Amino acid sequence: MKAVKATIAKALQPVTGLDEDTLVQMLEYPPNPELGDLALPCFKLAKTLRKNPAEIAQTLADVLVQSPAVTAASPAGGFLNISLARLPFATEVVNLAAVDTHALFSSDRNKGHKAAVDYSSPNIAKPFGVGHLRSTIIGESIVRLMREDGYEVVGINHLGDWGTQFGKTIAAYLKWGDEATVRADPVRELFKLYVRFHEEAERDPALEDEGRYWFKQLEDGNQQAVSLWQWFIDESLKAFKETYALLNVSFDHYLGESFYNDKMDAVVEELLADKLLVEDEGAEVVDLSAYDMPPCIIKKSDGTSIYATRDLAAAEYRHDKLGADTLIYVVGGEQRLHFQQLFKVLELMGKPYASRAQHVSFGMMKFNGARLSTRRGHVVYLEDVLAKAIDEAQKIIEEKNPNLADKDAVATSVGVGAVVFNDLKTYRIHDVDFRYEDVLNFDGETGPYVQYTHARACSVLRKSNDAKATMRLDTSAQGDDEGESALNDSEWALVLQLAQANEALNRAVDEYDPSVMARYTLQLCHAFNRFYHHNPILQSESAQRTRRLAMTLATRNVLARALYLIGMDAPKEM
Ligand code: ARG
Repeated sequence: MKAVKATIAKALQPVTGLDEDTLVQMLEYPPNPELGDLALPCFKLAKTLRKNPAEIAQTLADVLVQSPAVTAASPAGGFLNISLARLPFATEVVNLAAVDTHALFSSDRNKGHKAAVDYSSPNIAKPFGVGHLRSTIIGESIVRLMREDGYEVVGINHLGDWGTQFGKTIAAYLKWGDEATVRADPVRELFKLYVRFHEEAERDPALEDEGRYWFKQLEDGNQQAVSLWQWFIDESLKAFKETYALLNVSFDHYLGESFYNDKMDAVVEELLADKLLVEDEGAEVVDLSAYDMPPCIIKKSDGTSIYATRDLAAAEYRHDKLGADTLIYVVGGEQRLHFQQLFKVLELMGKPYASRAQHVSFGMMKFNGARLSTRRGHVVYLEDVLAKAIDEAQKIIEEKNPNLADKDAVATSVGVGAVVFNDLKTYRIHDVDFRYEDVLNFDGETGPYVQYTHARACSVLRKSNDAKATMRLDTSAQGDDEGESALNDSEWALVLQLAQANEALNRAVDEYDPSVMARYTLQLCHAFNRFYHHNPILQSESAQRTRRLAMTLATRNVLARALYLIGMDAPKEM
């Protein structure tokens, strides 16, 4: 779509005096396809051009009809509605996508930039909450989208593997823990110990001292404390990695908070040299009152460093050692202030990358309409959610397609995809509601619906028995005369959707919002299913058959890539 928009902008540039980029930005998709394929809101030009919108639209229409890319340009209600020449446009779009799954997406707008994307980042010895679930799903998609859009990306899991909770967990483990139980189910077991510690500490406050004692031991390198800590981490990571594998999530680096233990003194020295550190009730802080923010605490009164200090060290590391110039943090909204403070301190330190740091926050996840509290053990475990979704998917497949080969693998793809899609189709910043019946409904706007559409396209291609290399649009073979009538409305609507892949990608990246891509995927599926129901494909005449197969192949390719970009599998049969 970009290319044809640029062609139109080029033609209109001399008459409007506006630069081409501005014109490209102004072109809209009319709400009703009968109006045309693109529209230019001429009323927005009335002021600069000192003419009335209808006059402007007429002048521009006269210019545009000269362009071979355009078949009609008509003024209407302050707009200039534009219809494109269908066949040449379709030929270009469909043939590109038929050869290469990336072709309609990939973009090198961000070439030369390297982004560090911090996501998932659960806390060990604390629950893997639904916030971490959303961060994992959204973050993985953002990594893939940014790569497709030209960025070099490193995905980082900033594990919460340090802090006072370890003192508590060690104390609790030594009192009530048991090796085999932890080994069998580390995440749940460590969380149980954590909950029990808090319950008992309400009755017996001395326990808190014990927790503090063990954290101090850990910081001082006490052998027993360190090896228990390491063991908790190893076991928890093993469990997390199983879930990550199910979700097809992989990180370039696991760099937890503890990694920065020996890198924080340098940060403190730098802050001192920059004269940014002041004392505040015994703690060392960066005063941010000039920016209407509470102070950013660098060192607590007992000398221990905190979350923010580690994040400063981590930002330095990502820039200096990993070469990132763009820092992305996919973290829930409750840490908004933390990131505002962090970015402000980086800016005060004169870090050039401070202006390219971004907190990508997101809404809550509710189950059947209710929010969950992680206190008192009300946790929904990600692996349970996925296991149940896979189970339900298995039942549905058993019912719909009992003879399917690879039923287990497909059930996994569908179950996991249902959870992922349900999350990503919602605007990132909105709350997500989760109901198994809804997320697995094949007829709704769901993961299974999208995957099923892809499988349907694969099935058509399989049944054709044609070689993929022959599935192309050919303008000359179909003759110019019947050229325009050759593409009917449902075919054309599909081509227009295919052509918008790149714009969806760019917008998803600019807004750091995978929901743009998820919703694009739905639009493409709707257009393909309409095309499929309105047009015989395998039964049609030879030129039409080839064309429709080419369009099916192009759709399959774009859909498979779109699914990849939102972190979903694309089974060929289901
Ligand atoms: N572990 C943190 C939490 O669960 C999230 C870490 C986010 N990343 C960061 N660099 N602070 O609250």
